[in-house]
Amino acid sequence: MVMLRRPALLPLLCPLVLAGCAGIQSTLNPAGPAAAELAELWWVMAAGAVLIYGLVIGVAIYATRINPDRHGPKSEYLLILGGGVLLPVVVLTTLVVYSFTLGPELKRELGPEALRIEVVGEQWWWRVRYLPPGGEPVVSANELRLPVGRPVELLLSSPDVIHSLWVPRLAGKTDMIPGRVNRMILEASEPGVFRGQCAEYCGGPHALMAFYTLALPPEEFQAWLAHEAENAAKPDQSLLIQGQALFLDSGCGDCHTIRGTPADGQTGPDLTHVGSRYSLAAGILPNNIGTLAGWIAAAQEIKPGNKMPSFNTFSGLELRALAAYLESLE
Ligand code: CUA
Repeated sequence: MVMLRRPALLPLLCPLVLAGCAGIQSTLNPAGPAAAELAELWWVMAAGAVLIYGLVIGVAIYATRINPDRHGPKSEYLLILGGGVLLPVVVLTTLVVYSFTLGPELKRELGPEALRIEVVGEQWWWRVRYLPPGGEPVVSANELRLPVGRPVELLLSSPDVIHSLWVPRLAGKTDMIPGRVNRMILEASEPGVFRGQCAEYCGGPHALMAFYTLALPPEEFQAWLAHEAENAAKPDQSLLIQGQALFLDSGCGDCHTIRGTPADGQTGPDLTHVGSRYSLAAGILPNNIGTLAGWIAAAQEIKPGNKMPSFNTFSGLELRALAAYLESLE
């Protein structure tokens, strides 16, 4: 049997460590210019830390193992001045000056022709309103869609508690603070689905306050936005008609809006096109008829403390009709 010496284990561990750099929510796998700058900053800082660590350990080994006898008062003095004062000042100043050079991508100003998106951090979901230049606002919720290669300005706010919007693969995080509007630029340089997360503790279901950002080719984005602006599809099958009647009669419309129907509640997410969203319940469930039914019946079990009660009085058939209706709202 061959015994592995410890250094031989290192190459085996590397894939494990590097696996942390991939994934739909990794700052080290950037998909936009702002995130690319932050990733570069991270690698430079990490390289600096590794070098300094090596230097300190090297000096320690030299002083205790290689040449333990040869230090008098003069070398101590030199070590403290050189290693304790000069080196940190030079290294930290260099890194700070370098980090300032990364500013432009992170704090760009966009002109009036830019697409802006208002995102309001609610407890515990995202209210979203697209403000296309020269067009009518388009209301959506719990996900962002962006045209690839075009910077978009997010206008971030909150009515009550502080949240923080973070899409690690696209940009750094920005707080959503009651009483003010913070701005950030989001740009995706490739199409894809990027997971985002609330990054500031905002109460009970904070950890379950996520969302997806879908970066689409520009013409696909325009088509999607035009469709998103339309009213909801009218139900045309008996199951869907039954589902809509249940939705309206059970008071769902007191909290939720479905444009084109009497449901015009503002407390919860707009559901006009809920069937075409990537996820449900602010990024925590895949979106299909089963999860829709499950969410209606057991919202409190799935996301404890959120503001939607579990409607567990519907029969199985009623849940099926409701979920089928919502799924049809594409
Ligand atoms: Cu919203 Cu944490």
